[in-house]
Amino acid sequence: MSQRMNIPEHIAIIMDGNGRWAQQRGKPRNYGHSAGVDTLRKITAECARIGVKYLTVYAFSTENWNRPAEEVKLLMGLVISSLDNSLFDDNNIRFRTIGDKKRLPKDVQDTLQGLEERTKDYTRMTITVALSYSSRWELTDCMQKIAYQVESGKLKASDITEQTIIENMNSGFQPDPDLLIRTGGDIRISNYMLWQIAYSELYFTPIYWPDFDEKELIKAIEYFNTKQRRFGMTEEQVEKGL
Ligand code: FPP
Repeated sequence: MSQRMNIPEHIAIIMDGNGRWAQQRGKPRNYGHSAGVDTLRKITAECARIGVKYLTVYAFSTENWNRPAEEVKLLMGLVISSLDNSLFDDNNIRFRTIGDKKRLPKDVQDTLQGLEERTKDYTRMTITVALSYSSRWELTDCMQKIAYQVESGKLKASDITEQTIIENMNSGFQPDPDLLIRTGGDIRISNYMLWQIAYSELYFTPIYWPDFDEKELIKAIEYFNTKQRRFGMTEEQVEKGL
């Protein structure tokens, strides 16, 4: 990796392709999800090592509840079993979650809450796992929270700003992603962080998630480094640091 590489502060990932990776090998889909967890561990440790401060991964969408009950059950089991390790302690990584957690089984909720509490003082990087998450759910939930404040007289509708919205978003504790990576070949966003990716660089790769490794991560960051982020300004303004 070049010394002068600019490392994104926040990387968001849509980890797609586990099922197809397993199918290619004549294995059940869950074999792909298990391999996906191994990849997630490797990429989490690598992101922390190179200086990423926030990593947000899409593990289970609101729409994934419509998958066959057996696959949902196996995925929930995998969430519990895969979180029981020292990755977070060894690397000083804080674990957080976003999503409609009340829909998750009680034992999953308890495991997540326990880990969030245990790692809350870790500071090197924060990994946020989106579980039972969709952006439209998050925005709906946010609008409800704001509406309740207006209804109770705590907030005036005319005082609502972008900052009010961010503060009431489930993911409002972190900055927007600088780079969004999607593996698995599809060029779409699938209801993921729609508000937050307004100015993110988007990187799509055909590599299935279980095959995504440190080298592929660096390729994505190299792509990010080829982009000049203008946030609506002109090239000249950006170059002058305006
Ligand atoms: C997409 O592949 C992947 C998922 C729906 C699940 C990703 C989950 C993990 C890697 C494990 C999560 C565990 C923790 C602890 C966060 P797909 O099944 O949609 O693949 P396909 O598009 O090839 O069918």
